[in-house]
Amino acid sequence: MQIADFKIERYFAQWEFAVPYVLGASDVEGYRLSDLLALADDDGRRLWDALTLGYTESPGHPKLRAEIAGLYEQIAADQVIVSNPVEAIFLFAHAILQPGDHVIVVWPAYQALYEAARSAKAEVTLLPLSADNGWQLSIDDLRAALRPNTRAIVINSPHNPTGAVIDRATFAAVVGLAREAGAWLFSDEMYRFLETGQASPEAKPHTHDRLYAMYCADHKKKLPDARRADGFYLRGSVQRRKQESFSSPGGIATGG
Ligand SMILES: Cc1ncc(COP(=O)(O)O)c(C=O)c1O
Repeated sequence: MQIADFKIERYFAQWEFAVPYVLGASDVEGYRLSDLLALADDDGRRLWDALTLGYTESPGHPKLRAEIAGLYEQIAADQVIVSNPVEAIFLFAHAILQPGDHVIVVWPAYQALYEAARSAKAEVTLLPLSADNGWQLSIDDLRAALRPNTRAIVINSPHNPTGAVIDRATFAAVVGLAREAGAWLFSDEMYRFLETGQASPEAKPHTHDRLYAMYCADHKKKLPDARRADGFYLRGSVQRRKQESFSSPGGIATGG
């Protein structure tokens, strides 16, 4: 598999720990372990005290999957996969896409969202967002970008890097277009719950059966190192690809 340099990670590898202040991080100051444990209820605390740092089931610990499912309205625990978020992007690309498939990705975007598709030999159209309309996706532009071989549409709300939150009507229209086109909708919801105004709409499986949403379960993003305990929902092929990728969900989620 050929994959282009991940520019931001290269940049961070060079500078993140070499400067006194980092102004461009995607996470905030992390919790101490004691801050996190202070949030635990009795059940959570008991699980923590019994934690052993061994392997767990490959889709993720059942209790963690159930907790993540509870954050969404219509998700069952067995639709959730726990993985590292960037791994989840690669799983999607390599479980769903075939060479020659067409993928539409909003632009600007976190590099992996389009590079993973390219690494699966898909053809990527970057769909520009504009400050002129508050970085909202234009449904007309999305419709115009669709092709008969469009296999996936990739959106991200709250959006990195602009912070824009997709409005409900636009989100519903995107789901509708994906359904009409028979394309997958990959909704990157990494920064959900960080909104300061209108809440970002969540992907709901009853609206489209080709839906893949990525949600980052770290508490208000104060646990960037626990992103291995991220949640995900979706269907069988991605689960199988995860088993083949030899990855294990983060130890932090393995208690109980
Ligand atoms: C929009 C978006 N999606 C996915 C990721 C991947 O997250 P991680 O680096 O925790 O794997 C990031 C990371 O910054 C991101 O900004």
